[in-house]
Amino acid sequence: MRVLGIESSCDETGVALYDTEAGLLAHALHTQMAMHAEYGGVVPELASRDHIRRVIPLTRECLKTAGLTLADLDAIAYTQGPGLGGALLVGAAVANGLAFGLNLPVIPVHHLEGHLLSPMLADPAPTFPFVALLVSGGHTQLMAVRGVGDYETLGETLDDAAGEAFDKTAKLLGLPYPGGPELSRLAEHGDPTRFTLPRPMLRSGDFDMSFSGLKTAVLTLVRQQEAECGGALDDVTRADICRAFQEAIVEVLVSKSLAALKATGMQRLVIAGGVGANRQLRAALDRAAQRRRFAVYYPPLSLCTDNGAMIAYAGAARLALAQPAGVFSVRPRWPLA
Ligand code: KG4
Ligand code: ZN
Repeated sequence: MRVLGIESSCDETGVALYDTEAGLLAHALHTQMAMHAEYGGVVPELASRDHIRRVIPLTRECLKTAGLTLADLDAIAYTQGPGLGGALLVGAAVANGLAFGLNLPVIPVHHLEGHLLSPMLADPAPTFPFVALLVSGGHTQLMAVRGVGDYETLGETLDDAAGEAFDKTAKLLGLPYPGGPELSRLAEHGDPTRFTLPRPMLRSGDFDMSFSGLKTAVLTLVRQQEAECGGALDDVTRADICRAFQEAIVEVLVSKSLAALKATGMQRLVIAGGVGANRQLRAALDRAAQRRRFAVYYPPLSLCTDNGAMIAYAGAARLALAQPAGVFSVRPRWPLA
């Protein structure tokens, strides 16, 4: 079965072709980051309009890379939600239009299920069951995953998502949008011992998290440092603050993931979502995995952030469950479990 996947929930247009026998045949992506940068965040209307411009050329590009035509497709999957309403509608309209024209099933996919299953596109891929740490710009949750569609939320952030905390903290440090990756680059040069920031809810005894207080703690630290030096932060201090922030967030994410593994008795941990690209998080999890003898799986680095490949894969997994075809709709707000 060959499934075309279309992702358009936020600021990335992603299209991919997944073959249940041969694996990922092609994937193409256009990021709108540069377009939104001058506004310091995603402008929903601009996002929708850009998805309209990109989605057909990207589909053509994928088919060309795979040496296929529309006649070779067996199903069309698209991100139904959660995400920006107008942006989602573009992918939904194209997917439903193509499916109707080609007389193929259309498979609505939950964006987070896409992220959750994206490590299946890596080699080696995890087998069920596993604990998943989903850390994106919009969501942060720990899930027990027992199979496709069998998800239990163990805990989640009570306020900001981890990626959101990275982005907001980067903004208040004056870093260019999108701040998360930039903050983590600076943190690599920072001194982990100079500042210590709080580890919110580290000992709460459950799997919930909270990151908005951490951002406020950074703000207080920045003001304190600015007052001390009587002006703007120097590059070294800024890098040290980035490092302190990253140390705190990584410790919370690792500690909660370990607790979830212990409580479920599971031996596999899957990391998904944009923050999964963070090198310090990966290194800390790898060290813990060696020490505690569990296996940790990541999506390929290029598939950590939003992409069409994870939607094509999740679509194929849903198709295998013989789910009834969806109706044309989008679900901007949609809990996974
Ligand atoms: O999964 P994703 O592409 O989009 C959502 O579904 O939200 O995740 C984007 C998030 C952003 O908040 C971005 O700052 C963060 O992932 N991110 C990172 C890194 N790369 C992306 N955060 C920390 N370190 C990184 N290397
Ligand atoms: Zn995402």
